[in-house]
Amino acid sequence: MVRKAVLPVAGFGSRMLPASKSIPKEMLPIVDRPAIEYVVKEAVRAGIKEIILVTHSSKTAIEDYFDTQFELEHQLETKGKHALLDEVRDILPDGVNVISIRQHQALGLGHAVACAAPVVGDEPFAVLLPDVLVNCHEQEEDLGVMVEKYLVSGAAQIMVEEVPAERVDQYGIVALKREAPAPGCSAPMTAIVEKPAVSDAPSRLSVVGRYVLPGEIMGILAETPPGSGNEIQLTDAIATLLQRAPVEAYSMRGRTFDCGNKTGYLQAIFHYASIHPELGETAREMMAAELREPGAN
Ligand code: G1P
Repeated sequence: MVRKAVLPVAGFGSRMLPASKSIPKEMLPIVDRPAIEYVVKEAVRAGIKEIILVTHSSKTAIEDYFDTQFELEHQLETKGKHALLDEVRDILPDGVNVISIRQHQALGLGHAVACAAPVVGDEPFAVLLPDVLVNCHEQEEDLGVMVEKYLVSGAAQIMVEEVPAERVDQYGIVALKREAPAPGCSAPMTAIVEKPAVSDAPSRLSVVGRYVLPGEIMGILAETPPGSGNEIQLTDAIATLLQRAPVEAYSMRGRTFDCGNKTGYLQAIFHYASIHPELGETAREMMAAELREPGAN
C-alpha cells in the first residue's frame, strides 16, 4: 500500500505576487476552490490516506482549510443549506488525515521532503508538488497508475512529460535506456539531472511533480549535499537511488497546469471553468463572447 503523500507547501510563491503576498499561493482559487484542494483530491483518488503538508508559519490558511469549521457548518445546517454543507464537508473525505510539519529553513525541495521523514518512516510514499495541477480524463488517473506500478514492480515512479528544448533548463530531466514509453507506461531510467543547460540535457523528458518513492529515499536525502541553485534537490537524491534500486519514468496521459506562474494559473482557470459540472457551459459561452468582442458588456 502507498498510504502517505508529502506536499511541500512552504514556498513563498514569488512568481504569483502580489496575489500571494498575504494568501498562500496554494489557496488561490481555481474557479470555486483553492488549487491545493485539486492536488489533495488527486492524492486521495490514488488511495492516499495521510496528507503530509511540509509548511511554513505564514501558511496556516492551508491547514485551516482542511480542518472542520464548526461554526460555519452549524450555521449552514441551521439555515438548511445542505448542498453547501456537503461541499464543505467533502473537502477532506472521511478516513483521510492531514498532518503538518514545519520546514524551518528554505533549503530546497529535497530538504522539504526530508522534513517529512519522521511521519513517513520507512514506508513508500508519493510526492505531489502543489504548483502543478494534473488533470486526467481517463477512469484510472496517472497517480493511481503510478502507485499500482510501484506495488507490482517495486521500482520508484517519476512522472514525466516532454517539453520544448528551450525549457529543459527549468525542470528535472531524465535519461532512459530506450525511447520514451507510451502514455500510461513506464520505462527504466538511467539518469536524472536537475535543470540542465539545454546543451547538456539528456532528453526533453521533464519531471512533472508527481513521484512514488521508496522510504529509502529519506536516508539518501539526509546525506544529499546542496546542488542546483545551492539547494538540496530531490532530483539528486533520486539520482543516488538509481545507483541502488530501479527507478522508472512514467509517461503521463493527462495534462498539466503549472499554477506557480501567472500564465499556467490562468490556463488552469480556463480549463477547470470549462469542465466545471455547473459552471462549464456558461464559462465556455463567456470565453467565446470575450474572444469575439473583448471587454464588451
Ligand atoms: C521542481 C523540481 C524539478 C521539477 C519541477 C516540476 O523544480 O526540482 O525537478 O521538474 O519542480 O515543476 P521547481 O519548479 O521547484 O524549481
